[in-house]
Amino acid sequence: MILKNINCVQFKNHLNRSLEFSPHINLIIGNNGLGKTNILDAIHYLSTTKSALNNKDADSITHGKEYFSIDGVFHKDDNQYHIPCSYSENKKMVIKNNGYLYKSKKEHIGKFPNVFICPDDKDSIKWGSNIRRKVFDIMICQINKEYLNNLIEYNKFIKHRNSLLRKYAETGNIDKTLVNFYDKNIIELSKIIFEYRFSFLQDFKLYFINRYNILCDSDNEIPSIQYLSQLKDQEFERKYKSNFEKDLILKYTSMGIHKDDYNFLLNDYNIKNEASQGQKKSFFIALRLAQRDIMFDKLNIKPIILMDDIFEKLDDLRISNVINIIADSSIGQVFISHTSDNDDFINSFKNIETLNVIKI
Ligand SMILES: Nc1ncnc2c1ncn2[C@@H]1O[C@H](COP(=O)(O)OP(=O)(O)OP(=O)(O)O)[C@@H](O)[C@H]1O
Ligand SMILES: [Mg+2]
Repeated sequence: MILKNINCVQFKNHLNRSLEFSPHINLIIGNNGLGKTNILDAIHYLSTTKSALNNKDADSITHGKEYFSIDGVFHKDDNQYHIPCSYSENKKMVIKNNGYLYKSKKEHIGKFPNVFICPDDKDSIKWGSNIRRKVFDIMICQINKEYLNNLIEYNKFIKHRNSLLRKYAETGNIDKTLVNFYDKNIIELSKIIFEYRFSFLQDFKLYFINRYNILCDSDNEIPSIQYLSQLKDQEFERKYKSNFEKDLILKYTSMGIHKDDYNFLLNDYNIKNEASQGQKKSFFIALRLAQRDIMFDKLNIKPIILMDDIFEKLDDLRISNVINIIADSSIGQVFISHTSDNDDFINSFKNIETLNVIKI
């Protein structure tokens, strides 16, 4: 699957920009603030119907304008797909596929997937467990729609239970029948989601360690990812139920798979406290490349790889290892933003025939 071209109108700082792409490597270079990351974000929109950077679509409209539009043509399995996508302030996003108007954005998601590797990724190490869970939830959802449905159901029950707890705290009237109904579903779904997460990570770790080793080429660095969950405790169900009084005081459900977390380890130490900036960055590049690999193996689709400023903080060996990984055209289509147009950097790609350099 490849993106052939794109046209952005009033998208952030791009008033009207049309670009043609190589099916393999596209290097977007230029000084700070010129809009390199914004081009990657426009591609992210076409792929997922949302920004990788902003929560609100309105923030992607050029200041002072009323709408943005992004138009692109994908090639997949010998077919061509024209995807126009536009958004006007306070209106629903309009997105079409070869003239067919999607009824919901959900219909488009998953058709032209991407893997986004960005400098913010490594911040998930220091942020809360919800960010780390999201990293994995998105990956599991991409390869398993059932997982997404279970997760939506689970979150719905937790939301209902929490609002009941708040109501009980205010009124003092406790209807245990309703609580028991929610608990039965929460416990059942917890077990299912736990199994998905556990077995996904077992599988994923092999892809991840393989990528980390190729990227870092070091015998001294042994990376690992550990899944932390209360569901590992044989006594979970009993403890969850006996936690009701505490939940009443807290006014929320304090046990369950919504409390799961992931530990990112290097040589058995948490990378949050120990690893250097380059090691943290390497960890996430390997993680995202592994995401690409698992999607290819399970879905037989090569997601577009978006690499935003990934070379900063990497040593020469790791930079050349990344370049070697992506130089193999079997990786699929890659977009790289880089804040420099010095010839040495561009020369590192000089043996790649399918290189397209976009200077902005
Ligand atoms: N809604 C918007 N309207 C107009 N301009 C915007 C909007 N949102 C962001 N910008 C502009 O986009 C520019 C940043 O673009 P971007 O992050 O893509 O730059 P970059 O080329 O990746 O820079 P760097 O090399 O620093 O990463 C900023 O100058 C910012 O003011
Ligand atoms: Mg940038």
